[in-house]
Amino acid sequence: MSATLVLAERLVTCSTRGGDALGVLEPGAVLFDESGVRAVGTPDDVVPLGLGATRVEHRGLVTPGLVDAHTHAAWMGSRAREYAMRMAGADYEAIAAAGGGIVASMRAIRAATGAQVEEALRHRLLRMASLGVTTVEVKSGYGLSERDERKQLEAVASARQNASLPRVVPTFLGLHALPPEARDGGADERARYAEQVKRWLPGIARDGLATFVDAYVDRAAFSVSDVRPALEHARELGLGVRLHVGQFADVGGAELAAALGAASVDHLEHLSAEGAARLASAGVTAVLLPVASYTLGQAAPDVAQLRAAGVSMVVASDANPGTAPTESLPLAMAMAARSYGLSVTEILLGVTSLAAASLGVDAGRLVRGASADLVLWDLPNEAELLLPWGTPRAAQVFRSGRRIV
Ligand code: NIG
Ligand code: FE
Repeated sequence: MSATLVLAERLVTCSTRGGDALGVLEPGAVLFDESGVRAVGTPDDVVPLGLGATRVEHRGLVTPGLVDAHTHAAWMGSRAREYAMRMAGADYEAIAAAGGGIVASMRAIRAATGAQVEEALRHRLLRMASLGVTTVEVKSGYGLSERDERKQLEAVASARQNASLPRVVPTFLGLHALPPEARDGGADERARYAEQVKRWLPGIARDGLATFVDAYVDRAAFSVSDVRPALEHARELGLGVRLHVGQFADVGGAELAAALGAASVDHLEHLSAEGAARLASAGVTAVLLPVASYTLGQAAPDVAQLRAAGVSMVVASDANPGTAPTESLPLAMAMAARSYGLSVTEILLGVTSLAAASLGVDAGRLVRGASADLVLWDLPNEAELLLPWGTPRAAQVFRSGRRIV
C-alpha cells in the first residue's frame, strides 16, 4: 500500500495531546496510507519513518477533513419560489401548514427514481468534498412513506460504497413531517403516523440502511409523546438517535434526548437551563445550525448557556432546500463566528473531532490509527478558514488516505 508523507507549514491535528486545544504543530508532518494515519509529529520525527512515501510539501495550513454532522443532502427539486415568498415576509411554519415546505420536497422525492436521487446526492457530495468536507451525515425525511424513505436511504447507501466521495453516515428521518395521506384532522394523527414509522424500523435496521434515527420534535412538528415509542424501539434495535430540537419552541426534546442517550440534539434556538443541564449530564452533543437560523431570521441559541453547562458544541450546514439552501460547511463556520460568537477553536473542533465523535466515526483528528482524512488549505492558518465565506479554498483533500480532490 503506497504511503503519503505530508509536510505542512502549520498542522492542526485537533487532538489535545500536544497541550493546546487544537494540537498545533508548526511545522508538522503526517504519514498515512489507506489503512489510516501511521505517524504525526514534527518533520524530524516523522520524515525518517516515511522514506519510501510520496512526499507532499505544503506551504500553508493542514487540518483533518471537515465533518458535516447534519445534512439533508439527498433532496430533489427546488423550493426557490417558496424561499422568495419567505424573504418577502411569508412564514416558514405557515407555508408548511399550507402543504409547502418539507412536503413540497417530499413530492419531488416521490416523483424521482432512485437513480436520480443517487445522482443528485453524488454531485452534491462531490461539491462538498471540494470545500474540504470528508464526512457527511445524510438524513432521509423527504420520502415520508416506507418506499420513498427507503429510496432516499438506498441512494445514501450507494454513496457509502463510493470511496471517491466523502464518507457518508446515514440517518433515517421518517418523523420529519406528516405526509398528506396521514392527515385526517384527528388529534392523534401524528402519533398514528409515528406508529407506522416505528414499524418500518426493523427492516431499515436489518438492511443496514441507517446508523441513526432522527425526529423533528417541535411545536409544528411532532411532540415528545408522538415520537418516544419509535425512538425507544430504535434504541432497542441498536440504532443511535439524533433529534431536531427547539428550532421554533422548546417542547421538551432535550429532556427526551437525554433520557434516550441520544448522540446529538440539533438546532436549539429554544432551550431551557434545565434542558441544557440534562444534555450535559447525559453527554449529548449540541449540533448548531447557524445557516438555518439566519435564513429564518431567528436569534442565536444561547451559546453562553451551553458553554456554562459544559455541553459539547458541533457546527453543521443543515444543507437542505428549505431552511439552509447551501452545501457549504465553511459557510456555516463563518456564520457560527459572525452570528453565534463561537471562537475559532470551538468552530474548528466542532467541525472535526467533536463532529466525528458525535457520529461515532474515527476521523476528525490527526492521530496515529485514525482515518487518514485531511485537507491541505490554500490558507495560512485556521482563523482564515472563517473568512472566505464559503469559497472553496481546499487545495487537496484526502479521504481514507486517497486523494479525492
Ligand atoms: O433542519 N427543521 C426541520 N428540518 C429542516 C428543514 C427541512 C426543510 O425545510 O426542508 C431543518 O431546518
Ligand atoms: Fe435539519
